[in-house]
Amino acid sequence: MNTGIRFDGVSVAYGGNIVLDALDLTVEPGEVMALLGPSGSGKTTALRAVAGFVQPVAGRVFIGDRDVTDLPPHRRGVGMVVQQYALFPHMRVDANVAFGLKARGVHGAHGARKAPRDEIAARVTEALEMTGMSAYARRYPRELSGGQQQRVAIARALAVRPGVLLLDEPLSALDAQLRSGMLAELARLHRDLPDVSMLYVTHDQIEALTLADRIALMDRARLQDCGTPQDLYRRPRTEFTASFVGNANLLPVTVTGDGVRLAGAVLDVPAAGAAAPGDPATLCVRPHAIGLGEGPNALRGTVTEVQWRGATHRLCVDVAGHRVTADVRELHETSSLGTEVTLHFAARDAVVLPATAAPVGPGGGAAHG
Ligand SMILES: Nc1ncnc2c1ncn2[C@@H]1O[C@H](COP(=O)(O)OP(=O)(O)OP(=O)(O)O)[C@@H](O)[C@H]1O
Ligand SMILES: [Mg+2]
Repeated sequence: MNTGIRFDGVSVAYGGNIVLDALDLTVEPGEVMALLGPSGSGKTTALRAVAGFVQPVAGRVFIGDRDVTDLPPHRRGVGMVVQQYALFPHMRVDANVAFGLKARGVHGAHGARKAPRDEIAARVTEALEMTGMSAYARRYPRELSGGQQQRVAIARALAVRPGVLLLDEPLSALDAQLRSGMLAELARLHRDLPDVSMLYVTHDQIEALTLADRIALMDRARLQDCGTPQDLYRRPRTEFTASFVGNANLLPVTVTGDGVRLAGAVLDVPAAGAAAPGDPATLCVRPHAIGLGEGPNALRGTVTEVQWRGATHRLCVDVAGHRVTADVRELHETSSLGTEVTLHFAARDAVVLPATAAPVGPGGGAAHG
């Protein structure tokens, strides 16, 4: 099978600088893996190592059961889509889609061979159909919208019938509405091609949470965490994960015998091995898990900000000098700016994490978005 990706201790360096550090990661056949992480963390580099555009200084890359580390890009059976469409402006859509096939030939049972003309035509037709672009075959890229151009780029990647599809922020050049439409199309495409493995780089959490079977989190050249979106969201193991997958309140607490202490309040949230009694730790609670009014794990504070967000209100509350963000459905009449309120949350919606020295993630670890 020419699908599934395995990074086995893959390191990449530029001018002696390690920018991908001993990456171990497996993408199963048919799996969509999102690569998420701050700018410069090595996401694109990881993709380029699979495509063959960069040579690792250590480790091996496997596609299916083949070690492809020493193979040139056109013999790896991968399709790649990047942010900026990268279509040839002087070629019509069909020629753009055929380009990869002509360059690399057709992969058959006996390896790559030069593609015969009618086979190329059939594959171009198929790829344009899959991306809903059949009607545009004779247009030039400049005669297409951004979304249409990106569909052509996807068609070009699919035309080689890759076992592995590499997508590097494919939707980030599109506006928000188009992006959500294309996201749904990518999900459909994945259902149509259930054996193709996808490695999908994105900055957008919604894309990662919508498309991915699992998310790999990168930071400073290293893989920091990997898991299903649900696991990373509900049970993050580090502050970095908590702040990068969804919004999070990350509050400094002290571990007590059977709970944690936040300022004066004792909270009934087991630290479960994150830290020993007396140690500092970080409490992670999602804004939507915090309710307004009395309840278990009550926190008292002063409202510093109220934002109306359609279905919910976002309240920012100062709790003993810590900013706590809550997304609540109903706003009490008394919860206006400067008033004292009580917030609460269920123990099952909170996680205690080992404290880290420095703030991490976007927005310095505070709730954002
Ligand atoms: N051709 C190159 N020569 C030198 N350094 C490079 C080269 N390509 C990438 N780098 C460096 O490698 C590091 C990782 O880059 P990479 O493009 O993989 O990051 P990224 O996670 O994709 O970031 P972004 O989210 O901004 O696209 C960065 O520090 C970058 O400056
Ligand atoms: Mg990148």
